[in-house]
Amino acid sequence: MESNFNPQKTPNFSIKTTTFDQPNILFTHHFTFVFHLLLICIFFTHPLPVSTQSWDGIIVTESDFQALQSFKQELIDPNGFLKSWNDSGYGACSGGWQGIKCAQGQVIVIQLPWRGLGGQITSKIGQFQALRKLSLHDNVIAGSIPKELGFIPNLRGLQLFNNRFTGSIPPALGSCPLLQTIDLSNNSLVGTIPASLANCSKLYRVNLSSNSLSGSIPIPIAKSNSIMFLALQFNKLSGVIPDSWGIEKIGVKPMFQSLTFDHNFFSGPLPVSLSKLTDLQEISVSHNQITGTVPVEFGELSKLQVIDLSYNFINGSIPTSFSNLTSLKSMNFAHNNLTGEIPTFLGEKLNLSSFNVSYNNLSGSVPTQLSSKFDSSAFVGNLDLCGYSLSTPCLPSSPPSTIPSPPSNHRGSNKLTTKEIILIAAGAVIAILLIICCILLCCLFKKRQGGRQKDAAAGGGPGGGSGGPVAGKMEPPPQVEAAGEAGGKLVHFEGTMGFTADDLLCATAEIMGKSTYGTVYKATLEDGDQVAVKRLREKITKSQREFEIEVNLIGKIRHPNLLAMRAYYLGPKGEKLLVFDYMPKGSLTTFLHARGPETPVNWLTRMQIAKGMARGLLSLHTHHNIIHGNLTSSNVLLDENINPKIADFGLSRLMTTAANSNVIATAGALGYRAPELSKLKKANTKTDIYSLGVIILELLTGKSPGEAMNGVDLPQWVASIVKEEWTNEVFDLELMKDASVIGDELLNTLKLALHCVDPSPSARPEVQLVLQQLEEIRPDAATSSGDDGGGAGPSISE
Ligand SMILES: *[C@@H]1O[C@H](CO)[C@@H](O)[C@H](O)[C@H]1NC(C)=O
Ligand SMILES: *[C@@H]1O[C@H](CO)[C@@H](O)[C@H](O)[C@H]1NC(C)=O
Ligand SMILES: *[C@@H]1O[C@H](CO)[C@@H](O)[C@H](O)[C@H]1NC(C)=O
Ligand SMILES: *[C@@H]1O[C@H](CO)[C@@H](O)[C@H](O)[C@H]1NC(C)=O
Ligand SMILES: *[C@@H]1O[C@H](CO)[C@@H](O)[C@H](O)[C@H]1NC(C)=O
Ligand SMILES: *[C@@H]1O[C@H](CO)[C@@H](O)[C@H](O)[C@H]1NC(C)=O
Ligand SMILES: *[C@@H]1O[C@H](CO)[C@@H](O)[C@H](O)[C@H]1NC(C)=O
Ligand SMILES: *[C@@H]1O[C@H](CO)[C@@H](O)[C@H](O)[C@H]1NC(C)=O
Ligand SMILES: *[C@@H]1O[C@H](CO)[C@@H](O)[C@H](O)[C@H]1NC(C)=O
Repeated sequence: MESNFNPQKTPNFSIKTTTFDQPNILFTHHFTFVFHLLLICIFFTHPLPVSTQSWDGIIVTESDFQALQSFKQELIDPNGFLKSWNDSGYGACSGGWQGIKCAQGQVIVIQLPWRGLGGQITSKIGQFQALRKLSLHDNVIAGSIPKELGFIPNLRGLQLFNNRFTGSIPPALGSCPLLQTIDLSNNSLVGTIPASLANCSKLYRVNLSSNSLSGSIPIPIAKSNSIMFLALQFNKLSGVIPDSWGIEKIGVKPMFQSLTFDHNFFSGPLPVSLSKLTDLQEISVSHNQITGTVPVEFGELSKLQVIDLSYNFINGSIPTSFSNLTSLKSMNFAHNNLTGEIPTFLGEKLNLSSFNVSYNNLSGSVPTQLSSKFDSSAFVGNLDLCGYSLSTPCLPSSPPSTIPSPPSNHRGSNKLTTKEIILIAAGAVIAILLIICCILLCCLFKKRQGGRQKDAAAGGGPGGGSGGPVAGKMEPPPQVEAAGEAGGKLVHFEGTMGFTADDLLCATAEIMGKSTYGTVYKATLEDGDQVAVKRLREKITKSQREFEIEVNLIGKIRHPNLLAMRAYYLGPKGEKLLVFDYMPKGSLTTFLHARGPETPVNWLTRMQIAKGMARGLLSLHTHHNIIHGNLTSSNVLLDENINPKIADFGLSRLMTTAANSNVIATAGALGYRAPELSKLKKANTKTDIYSLGVIILELLTGKSPGEAMNGVDLPQWVASIVKEEWTNEVFDLELMKDASVIGDELLNTLKLALHCVDPSPSARPEVQLVLQQLEEIRPDAATSSGDDGGGAGPSISE
């Protein structure tokens, strides 16, 4: 172990392993944003024993061994997953027993989801005194949830959803002081919600949805100041929703972010105290029996994004205070008894992406901002509402001209039956949709192109580039497509697809993500080609002249491990779009952190990604003299062969200094920023190496740097465990299966990564050396991502 890694430099933190590999706090909304995983920081208060086991493991304690035996006995294992639990306990704690993780001979994790397990959970479960996580979701386990779980002082996570548990939720669970997440959704539980759960002061995620629970919501739960997510939908809960939300206890604010109470039998009014939940982002009480009005105080919920009150008996009008809900994206008030007009602020002040007030008793005209954005099904069923479709004109003197008058009906009045309204609306909607579809997408880019754009390409039309990975030195001149007077300018680079500005602006687009620099869309062109389009935020780019000089340089860079820019577009009002290859496999972040346990990522693949990144970065640093400045796993994209491609390089050159400081700050929050950048403010090759090191650590540990490891960042966490010689504890459990074969490779890569994240910039290697060492650790077989690209020099010159 010749070592570049100096343990003296690493801080000395006491270490506890988190047991939460997938916090899974993914918010699903009605619209198609792809949200980043929101990782919740978990801080543990009590230090816990952590395994000091060597690669050979140690023997499980007698008490835990007995409990494991009963656990196996009482389960039914039709697929034989528990066959590995066959020896006298020797293998239980050394990786031989599937689904078990130990520390110091005690079981700390039992994780057996999607195994087809039946039977029931043994009452001896209480013997696992060190157990932190019990995850048995997606099986067919029946019987009751043992009250003995309440005797486990270390229990943090209980994932029993998608099973067949019966009986009631044991109130004893309230005695688990460290419990953080409890998900019992989609079982057959009955009885009431135990108020004692509110005694777990670390509990932040409670999911009891899709059971047959009855009774009302206990007041102590409403008063909780730890719970963030409370999901109670699809039960038989009833009574009035308590009015005790948002009570600040000794200066600690309530944490609720999401309350889903839909599909129950709640009655009575909406509690005003909900308005005190300052962090609330989503509330759903649809399909209940709520009466009364919508409290004006709801206008104080400044972070509210989704509100669904549909299918209740709510009356009164929509409060004008809703104009203050600037975060609101989705509003569903369908099937209630609301009266009054739709207040125009809903169209003017709010930017809603989903809206529905159908089947109420609203009157007046629909603001054009809403009627142009949402189809008539969002407004139907309000007899006195007009102006949302051709068949509901607001002026009595202007009958619809293009729609044939419907045959008179038996009522003998001018009013149409609901069926007719729907038929006519449907016809009109289909016609309008075809038109609006295109307009909407153009609106996405904020600019509707006026006239058709003329193809005034300088080089004789698009598509002239020689395909394939052409050497970076000999690009054909960029092809410029000037659009009509009102239009903008589209510039293609080598390897272009033959699209016009019109094709691009009217492509079907879907938001993939947002960053400091702008929003990324997946755009499908008319011919089915897919591209990624980055729409840069306004006022963050340099002057147009400087911008064009820089973007023309970046657009010429071609390397198998760098994401190629294919074109850019400058709109007439200064809007800027960058067009890149679309990578169907998405980013390394998603690939690594948002996958099921049944799709492991093996060491070979991880190594291939590490090497590819190093090659891409080498090309940037040595051949193009570009500092990336924002290298994160979400900026590393994967092609269909899992070859990594670094994205977003060079963009900092297009931006103002202020925008770039912003990016550096964000990188800090994400855990990829070199420590010296907090003072230095300007990225360099050594700060890029730091970020590369963090990503390699991410590949080794399977942990996201955003995930707080007891309040320290990923490099510090790894370094401190290594220092205490618990090295095997840092690696992703998945990799440990083959530890006997690849153990040395893991260790050497770990050393290299720690070298890259050395707190002292001068101690970090240059990228040539990183690549060289990675190639020494695992020599390439026939590599597909070799140095065959233009620009990337094959020689390692040190
Ligand atoms: C016990 O389990 C191990 C690990 O799965 C397996 O290799 C071994 O063959 C099993 N032994 C018996 C007797 O089933
Ligand atoms: C509930 O569990 C069943 C299997 O027990 C599964 O088929 C179904 O998809 C689950 N429902 C949800 C909403 O996850
Ligand atoms: C919560 O804990 C306190 C004391 O620790 C106890 O008095 C109380 O009964 C508990 N509440 C519930 C609902 O179990
Ligand atoms: C609760 O569980 C349901 C069904 O299993 C799931 O759809 C929902 O996303 C979960 N909600 C939270 C907040 O965990
Ligand atoms: C919006 O909020 C501001 C400040 O909190 C308040 O003064 C104003 O009255 C609110 N607007 C409405 C319509 O409630
Ligand atoms: C709707 O509200 C009106 C008064 O505004 C009331 O007369 C009517 O009974 C209500 N309908 C329902 C279904 O609650
Ligand atoms: C409204 O939201 C959409 C996405 O939901 C966004 O593209 C658009 O720029 C927003 N408009 C305004 C004026 O904020
Ligand atoms: C609609 O509201 C009016 C009063 O505003 C009321 O007279 C009427 O009964 C309501 N219609 C329904 C269907 O609730
Ligand atoms: C509005 O809600 C009604 C009733 O749930 C539904 O049929 C309709 O499709 C919805 N329309 C929109 C635009 O969401």
